[in-house]
Amino acid sequence: MTSPLIEFIAREHPAFVHIPLGLVAVLPLAMLVSFHPRHGRALVGTSFFLGAIGWLGSTVALFSGLMWGRQINLIAPSAFLPVVASEKQVLQRILQIHIQASLIGFLVGGLCVFLLWRAWRQDAATPGEHRHHAGRRFWERGVGAPALLVGFIWLGCWGFSGKLGGIMVFGNEATNKAAAAADAAKRNDVEAELPIRALDYASLEPAEAAPMRSKAHGDRWRRIWVTASGIDAYKAGKALPAGAYAVMSTFSDEKGRPSTDPGPLYMKETKGDGTTAFAFYWGKVPEALQKDFGNQDSVYWRSPDPRIATCLGCHDKGGSAK
Ligand code: HEC
Repeated sequence: MTSPLIEFIAREHPAFVHIPLGLVAVLPLAMLVSFHPRHGRALVGTSFFLGAIGWLGSTVALFSGLMWGRQINLIAPSAFLPVVASEKQVLQRILQIHIQASLIGFLVGGLCVFLLWRAWRQDAATPGEHRHHAGRRFWERGVGAPALLVGFIWLGCWGFSGKLGGIMVFGNEATNKAAAAADAAKRNDVEAELPIRALDYASLEPAEAAPMRSKAHGDRWRRIWVTASGIDAYKAGKALPAGAYAVMSTFSDEKGRPSTDPGPLYMKETKGDGTTAFAFYWGKVPEALQKDFGNQDSVYWRSPDPRIATCLGCHDKGGSAK
């Protein structure tokens, strides 16, 4: 896993960011004072110093932010931005804008540091206080008006990014609402962790009197169980009515007979809206077969998981595959 140092850098992201942010917050002040005819000279150097340290410091902040995002699974292990799959993912959306604002700030900051470096070099090449006196228009004095403007934009980007960062750490109405909604959805989804109804197949109506061989499902021995609300339709070869579901319990084959080792459970359900949902559950995948199941020792897939797509190949549009 990651080293303790990286972990520390990642976790302390909310602390690290204050160093560059603080420097960039005082930077416009130093730049403003650099327009002063007499104290300008020293402040050009100071501005360059503040800007350069702030900019370099921000590389640590950017890195730690990326590491942190990956550690808390908001960013995929090899990705640089979070994926926003739906409008409901408020946190991911805020994070995306947070990252964009900080990156734009970083680019603008680079430009600012360059302008400051140029002003400072020019200053060093101009003897005495000459540069700050007559002969220069006001906006050409000190660090120069363009650098000042860029400095304000830099601060603006990071200020905005920091505000979003604060929201992500401390929450606001939108993030709290999203968290509550996700919580409620999970509580309503009793089968989020386990296919509870499928596991309770013995409480359903058996559709066949004895185990049969099923070529379609790994050539295992199967038994099909259907809810009372759907058993008549099932026996008549019709699609199951809304709310009804069928479960297929399986056993592997042992010399032409069902073995005592349970195979996976298959489930097919007609939802209230008429769509068909599938679930595939295998609590203990035998070691020899794990390579076919993403090297997992236990799998639980259900619609709309893309791995359930193989079921659709035969059970198209939810109709009986027979
Ligand atoms: C190769 C084609 C094929 C694939 C792939 C397939 N099935 Fe089936 N399924 C069938 C057939 C044919 C039947 C009828 C019973 C049988 O032949 O075993 C069936 C029956 C079922 C049943 C019993 C209810 C019914 O409609 O008869 C369930 C539940 C089920 N399949 C679930 C699944 C799930 C979940 C998947 C994906 C993990 C899946 N099936 C993949 C062909 C397939």
